[in-house]
Amino acid sequence: RRLSSHRMEPLRATAAWDALERHLPVIADRHLRDLFAADPTRAETMTAEATGLHLDFSKHRIDAEGLRLLLALAEDRDVAGQIDAMFRGAHVNVTEDRPALHIALRLPRSASLVVDGTDVVPEVHRVLDRMATIAEEIRGGTWRGATGQAIRAVVNIGIGGSDLGPVMAYEALRAYSDRDLVFRFVSNADATAIAEATRDLDPATTLVIVSSKTFSTLETMTNASTARRWIVEALGEAAVARHFVAVSVHADRVAAFGIDPANMVGFWDWVGGRYSMDSAIGLSTMIAIGPARFRELLDGFHAMDEHYRSAPFARNLPVLMALLGVWYRDLMGAQAHGVMPYEQYLSRFPAYLQQLVMESNGKRVTSAGDPVGVDTSPIVWGEPGTNGQHSFFQMLHQGTTLIPVDLIGFAQPIHPIGEHHDILIASMLAQAEALAFGRTPAEVRADGTPEALVAHREMPGNRPTSVLLAERLTPYRLGTLVALYEHVVHAQGAIWGIDSFDQWGVELGKRLAAAILPELTADAEPPLAHDPSTNALIQCYRRLRDAES
Ligand code: F6P
Repeated sequence: RRLSSHRMEPLRATAAWDALERHLPVIADRHLRDLFAADPTRAETMTAEATGLHLDFSKHRIDAEGLRLLLALAEDRDVAGQIDAMFRGAHVNVTEDRPALHIALRLPRSASLVVDGTDVVPEVHRVLDRMATIAEEIRGGTWRGATGQAIRAVVNIGIGGSDLGPVMAYEALRAYSDRDLVFRFVSNADATAIAEATRDLDPATTLVIVSSKTFSTLETMTNASTARRWIVEALGEAAVARHFVAVSVHADRVAAFGIDPANMVGFWDWVGGRYSMDSAIGLSTMIAIGPARFRELLDGFHAMDEHYRSAPFARNLPVLMALLGVWYRDLMGAQAHGVMPYEQYLSRFPAYLQQLVMESNGKRVTSAGDPVGVDTSPIVWGEPGTNGQHSFFQMLHQGTTLIPVDLIGFAQPIHPIGEHHDILIASMLAQAEALAFGRTPAEVRADGTPEALVAHREMPGNRPTSVLLAERLTPYRLGTLVALYEHVVHAQGAIWGIDSFDQWGVELGKRLAAAILPELTADAEPPLAHDPSTNALIQCYRRLRDAES
């Protein structure tokens, strides 16, 4: 099953790429106003729907021919073959020689997926059952702390994928959560994070979940040790068994840290950190919303998986969004991609996507180690609407940089209060309209605008958006949304020919920090052998820290 890192033809050398480059001038100077005038049916033809999620991609700077060429690119890069390889458990994570099998985490109990000789589905469900037992005990008050009291607060300690998924999902599904339980998420090595998270909690009624795939991440181990001291100082060493649960793939490291492996929930090497929110890393999510709703979340993931695997590319949401992303990033020169959920509960979704997209596809060489030859991951950022409108949207409307934006909205509010929701969605639709069509100087003049202000008030438009609309934010819907972006990342990685499942770029900084730490803590001035700037900064830090204040 090992995927040899076979060399794909360099992207730029393919006929499919060449055809796109030749088509670029046809589109580059055309305005969305012209594209709609030339083909008013695009409002119907350039939409797609899957799992109840509606995608309007008509306000993109592409025409039918451009779309056809992008779809041909997907064929040419064998995206279908690469989808198949991921879904059957081939070692698509070439540099770490293992599968990337997050799709197995949401397979139904009746399914089977044999990977490297083992059917992983029974394993997945054994872990889900174990999580459900813990979740029910906490939610039902039968899990007792060291003093016999029920658990009232859950603190998840983790970072990267072991934090962003849990915190995003908790915030997203807060309306479905047990409001009698308090949830806190601690990720940063900065002591402020854990100090603030625990300052008003009672150790006797707190459960700490240490979430770390490797159980060796500096920030998480530091926070876990601090939390352990907090519990032990208040309740004694024996309390650790009742107040700590570990989520990891390394039982030995969990035991060495001092958590009984009986209190560990496991997962597997084939789940990447940023693809793990629906594995045991989602324990805090399951405690918050309960096992039945967690099942709905998994069903949503699975429904989008099935769509990605089976829908023709011309109707395939992840493939269409991936292709449009490649079009802007590599042909139109866009460097960034905005994601603006018009849903307050999705406030952490852009941060979650930053890791998913940028850690996966922020690569410069192909799986075979050759330069990709084109730009890869965009810079991803975003804020919930309508807040973003009153800050950086100005630059989207009238700045000099092209930034395609995804706008995500729901037809039914979680809180149907007054006119709030219609105002929210009117704002979202208005932004898409204004970004696409703008206001011409003639329209501005027709308002009676003084000539000196016409240039300032002109809205150039021609700024692309995707609008994603669904009925309502539910656990199921969240699952479909996360899986949608997971597969956008996969399809783009497939086109670029890169390994979307490793993250070697984060290693060097970790190694250097380990070397610098003793130089900061040494009593005597340490000999320093870094570059002159780093040496000087270490000396400056030591001087400032030790200064009398
Ligand atoms: O440093 C990056 C990273 O490895 C991420 O990929 C991962 O999500 C995060 O650190 C946390 O890793 P772990 O779960 O092993 O603590």
